Amino acid sequence: MNITVIGAGYVGLVTSACFAELGNQVTCIDVNKQKIANLKKGILPIYEPGLESMVISNLNNKRLHFATSLKDSGAEPQVIFIAVGTPSDKDGSADMQFVLEAARNIGSYIKHYCVVVDKSTVPVGVADQVEEIIKTELKKRKLKIKFDIVSNPEFLREGAAIDDFMQPDRIIVGLNSKNAKNIMLELYKPILRNPERIYFMNIKDAEMTKYVANAMLATKISFMNEMSVLCDRMGVDVDNVRIGIGADSRIGNSFIYPGCGYGGSCFPKDVKALIKMAENHDVNPYVLRAVEERNHHQKHVLPEKIFKIFGEDLSDIKIGVWGLSFKPGTDDMREASSLVLLEKLLTHNAKVQAYDPVAMPVAREMLPKDWFKSGKLHLSDHQYEAVKDVDALVLVTEWKSFCYPDLSVMKKLMKRHIILDGRNQYDPQQIKDAEFEYYGIGRE
Ligand SMILES: NC(=O)c1ccc[n+]([C@@H]2O[C@H](COP(=O)([O-])OP(=O)(O)OC[C@H]3O[C@@H](n4cnc5c(N)ncnc54)[C@H](O)[C@@H]3O)[C@@H](O)[C@H]2O)c1
Repeated sequence: MNITVIGAGYVGLVTSACFAELGNQVTCIDVNKQKIANLKKGILPIYEPGLESMVISNLNNKRLHFATSLKDSGAEPQVIFIAVGTPSDKDGSADMQFVLEAARNIGSYIKHYCVVVDKSTVPVGVADQVEEIIKTELKKRKLKIKFDIVSNPEFLREGAAIDDFMQPDRIIVGLNSKNAKNIMLELYKPILRNPERIYFMNIKDAEMTKYVANAMLATKISFMNEMSVLCDRMGVDVDNVRIGIGADSRIGNSFIYPGCGYGGSCFPKDVKALIKMAENHDVNPYVLRAVEERNHHQKHVLPEKIFKIFGEDLSDIKIGVWGLSFKPGTDDMREASSLVLLEKLLTHNAKVQAYDPVAMPVAREMLPKDWFKSGKLHLSDHQYEAVKDVDALVLVTEWKSFCYPDLSVMKKLMKRHIILDGRNQYDPQQIKDAEFEYYGIGRE
């Protein structure tokens, strides 16, 4: 099939590469000229396991193409995916400017019937706006081209995006046209081992499904985070509680691991956008607001533990930080817990040595330049370099390489032997046996 994907970010690039891998002709469009120039040379703007080799092999076999606009692409797609960003606006609602601009581009370009698929996460009703904009643009061109609108929200997880795309738990498709349904079935046939994994519904239901899925996961994790704070106060090990409740099949084991707060490009903005949607419809979003509030506080749990140990003046304190990305397997630092921790430590005059296996280039770009210039923040070349002469190590992101640290090496390198485990990765007894002080989340 001939496919065009608008947006070459985490979702657009994975979608493009995977559909090309499945034998389609795919053109991926992005307004960022530098990104496209690099992608044409096989240089990727993001880190995602397995993506680079897939992009390069499909570039080489000429199934994957890149362009800076639909017009420049010259493509004649049967299906156009919109996969542009939908960040938070100032008031918390989802900012639709990129989606609506993509719709204008589509309306001013298409030459024949096609299916326009919205993969970006958009509030309920945006598909109608996209349809109207395309119609208006076609009217300006005095053309009567038929097209169908589909909502096909994306559920991939950064760090496991290719597996999630190729072996999805489910594919949600919102539509109201038989023709579009056949095309979507044809498109997804190669990865649908079990056809029941594709769920058809109306467009608004599909748009809402994406928000409710993310809000449910954010709620589960926030509930456990809150329980971890309570366990901490009462001398209860939340990890045993987690195992105990996870064994209940009604609860299950996923998304009940407490930590130092969720981040990333999706949960924070999608919870905010859902709150806004509720408010706009005169519904008081008690649960969603609590989820947001808990997450805000949870990101302060680690700095507060540090203040409790060292006091609030950290002028003579050096802290090692392991992990900057919002989760392992990605270089994405949007809304990462590390940002709150670094900001707190540096404003309290600590010196920080941080290390992340893949997010350091993003950190160099994204973090305030004066943090580096002042010499307060240093990005280390190796995880053990980051613990040299530190008073404490804080684990923020549970990359595999941090999970089994060589405690004898750490013992020699660290000035004081204190470990704050923001993801409950370590066995507290093992750490204490090695004569380190251990502070976890909801357990000591
Ligand atoms: N990142 C995830 O893990 C994930 C998972 C599921 C769903 N989503 C949703 O998918 C959407 C995209 O997310 P992302 O993380 O890939 O975003 P991103 O910010 O990584 O990438 C968006 C890209 O779109 C490009 N763009 C903006 N306007 C454009 C236009 N008019 N034409 C062409 N390109 C344009 C930008 O330059 C950017 O490269 C969002 O709605 C997000 O909520 C993201």
